Amino acid sequence: MANANGSLTASIREAAAYIAERTTIRPQIALVLGSGLGVLAEGIEDAVSIPYKDIPHFPVSTVEGHASELLVGMLAGKPVLMMKGRFHMYEGYGPETVSFPVRVMKELGVTTLLVTNAAGGVNASFRPGDLMLIKDHINFMFRNPLIGPNDSSIGVRFPDMSEAYSRKLRELARSVGEKLGVEFQEGVYAGVLGPSFETPAEIRMFRALGADAVGMSTVPETIAARHSGIEVLGISCITNMAAGMLDQPLSHDEVMETAELVKEAFIRVVKGIVAELPDAKA
Ligand code: HPA
Repeated sequence: MANANGSLTASIREAAAYIAERTTIRPQIALVLGSGLGVLAEGIEDAVSIPYKDIPHFPVSTVEGHASELLVGMLAGKPVLMMKGRFHMYEGYGPETVSFPVRVMKELGVTTLLVTNAAGGVNASFRPGDLMLIKDHINFMFRNPLIGPNDSSIGVRFPDMSEAYSRKLRELARSVGEKLGVEFQEGVYAGVLGPSFETPAEIRMFRALGADAVGMSTVPETIAARHSGIEVLGISCITNMAAGMLDQPLSHDEVMETAELVKEAFIRVVKGIVAELPDAKA
């Protein structure tokens, strides 16, 4: 993918134009669906589906359990863009590639990003199947999508990250959850590169550092979103207790199985949240 500044802007515009040509729907809300959480795509109406491989400059996801299509349609009465399958740095992509779709969302007029992921529970009071509102993150990927020349037409050189995950959106999510009988945990997400799961020593370190969950995504997308002024709501599905917390090995199968178990509650609460998101000011 193009890296020099001018050609990056051109790539963003080309990708956005390709998507905009395929639908009259103009989404203000975007959803990124994490491992095993792609089921939400079933709830979308009047959708056009665009395979990532057809979108100019889009990378293609290579992980099992991650589809590779972008949907634009209506969810809970709102125009949305949905990414079924995302890109991870462990696939070999740089952070600027992983966050490229967020740039395209911004170009399309998106103002709110609802990002979901599967994560390991680091907080001992969590249980597999819990949903956690991300209150903050720790960037343990030691990579940043904003490295390189800054495009000041997108955002500032040194973006503020003191409220990366909108407090207002977390409150809205919590109140929707209360109405629908879906409880949320809340906590700090530590983003790691993967793809190996963590060691028990690493998990003890993350707990000491204040993390409640650990996962291999979300951080680059959130940084790019904040850079471009998009509000972020992050929800982790705690698919497993992190390494060393239970006397059993971790597997991607367990991640997928737990995601499958919570999908009903997850779909319900995300639809409820989307329904209540305020329309952006014109
Ligand atoms: N660690 C990192 N990423 C994950 C985990 C985990 O335990 N579970 C799901 N994604």
